[in-house]
Amino acid sequence: MKIAVIGTGYVGLVTGTCLAETGNTVICVDINEAKVLKMQNGEIPIYEPGLDVLFLRNIEQKRLTFTTDLAVAVASAQIIFMALPTPPGGDGAADLSYILGAAKDIAKLVTEYKVIVNKSTVPVGTADKVQAVFAEHTAIQIDVVSNPEFLREGVAVEDFMKPDRVVIGTRSERAQKLMSELYGPYVRQGNPILFMDERSSELTKYAANSFLATKITFMNEVANLCELVGADVDAVRKGIGSDGRIGKRFLFPGIGYGGSCFPKDVQALAKSAEENQYDFQILKAVMEINEKQKTVLVNKLLSYYKDDLKGKHFALWGLAFKPETDDIREAPALYIIDELIKHGATVTVFDPEGMENVKAQIGDKVNYAPNQYEALTGADALLIATEWSVFRNPDFERMEEKLANKVIFDGRNLYDLQKMIDLGYYYNSIGRKL
Ligand code: UGA
Repeated sequence: MKIAVIGTGYVGLVTGTCLAETGNTVICVDINEAKVLKMQNGEIPIYEPGLDVLFLRNIEQKRLTFTTDLAVAVASAQIIFMALPTPPGGDGAADLSYILGAAKDIAKLVTEYKVIVNKSTVPVGTADKVQAVFAEHTAIQIDVVSNPEFLREGVAVEDFMKPDRVVIGTRSERAQKLMSELYGPYVRQGNPILFMDERSSELTKYAANSFLATKITFMNEVANLCELVGADVDAVRKGIGSDGRIGKRFLFPGIGYGGSCFPKDVQALAKSAEENQYDFQILKAVMEINEKQKTVLVNKLLSYYKDDLKGKHFALWGLAFKPETDDIREAPALYIIDELIKHGATVTVFDPEGMENVKAQIGDKVNYAPNQYEALTGADALLIATEWSVFRNPDFERMEEKLANKVIFDGRNLYDLQKMIDLGYYYNSIGRKL
């Protein structure tokens, strides 16, 4: 099939590349000329495991091309995906100006039936708004489809190629037929393509992310309580997760959820409820608790050092909001850095992929180490903010040689408690005994 993808951010690029991988011809459009030029030369602008191989292969096979010319893309495509940003506006509601602007531009170019697919996370009712923009600017019949993405950064290729489900919001039979043809190759194992109306599809995306954020937040609170009552959150996690109704996944406590999706989507759903005169109380609590959870490690430090971090030097492992990504948006590590500096401490950081982004954002406020061990030199304590695999089984003897004190504050529960006691470390983690 012939596809156009408008916007080559994270979602657009993964979508375009993975759609090309099953044999479709995909043309990706972006207004950023320098970026398009780089992609035309096979340079991938994001770090996402496994994507580079597919990206290069499909460029070589000429199934994946890039342009700044929207007209060329619209003319050639049967299905046009919009993967454009929906940043939170001043009031917390998603800003639709990119999407509605692109819809207007596309509307002026269409000369025959097209399916316009919205991949961005958008408030309920956006498909209707997009449809109205088309109705205003063209007499050609088009269908607007809501097709939310459920990709996780770090495993986005796998999530796209083998989705748990595909959600398609449209009441048009013609669009349904084209979309099921397009997604057929991705659900061969029998996972469902769920057809529903546009509004239900739009809400599904927000409800999914908000539910997952709530699940994590619940576990963070359980972990905090575990510390007070002398229980072990790992045991509790396994104890409740074995109940099929609860499920084992997404029950890991930590230092708050981050990233570009959960914080934004929980806020947007709460806002949308408010606009509809509904008080979605649980979401308000989730947002408030998550803010507090970001302070957990710093509070532990303050209590350990009797409220005085002045002149202390800390090593920080992990900057990205989660492993296998260089994304530092809403990363708890940034909050920790800020607080440590405010309290007069100095920090040396290491992250396998996130260092460049942090440098661009905060410059020389911290020191950057070339590897995880160098980061420890002379540090009063090590703090762990992201559960990268390389941190899971480190050389503790080498660490001991570098650290000034054998003290670790772990926001991701990477190590076995008994092992740390045997090694002689002071080891403070989340929801577990000291
Ligand atoms: C999330 C959703 O999982 C995707 O389904 C969705 O498509 C995506 O948002 C999106 O809307 O674009 P992502 O933000 O990439 O994906 O990352 P997750 O793996 O879901 O992690 C989100 C946050 O939750 C991270 O900060 C992570 O550390 C935290 N988390 C996750 C926990 O604290 N505990 C857990 O058990 C799991």
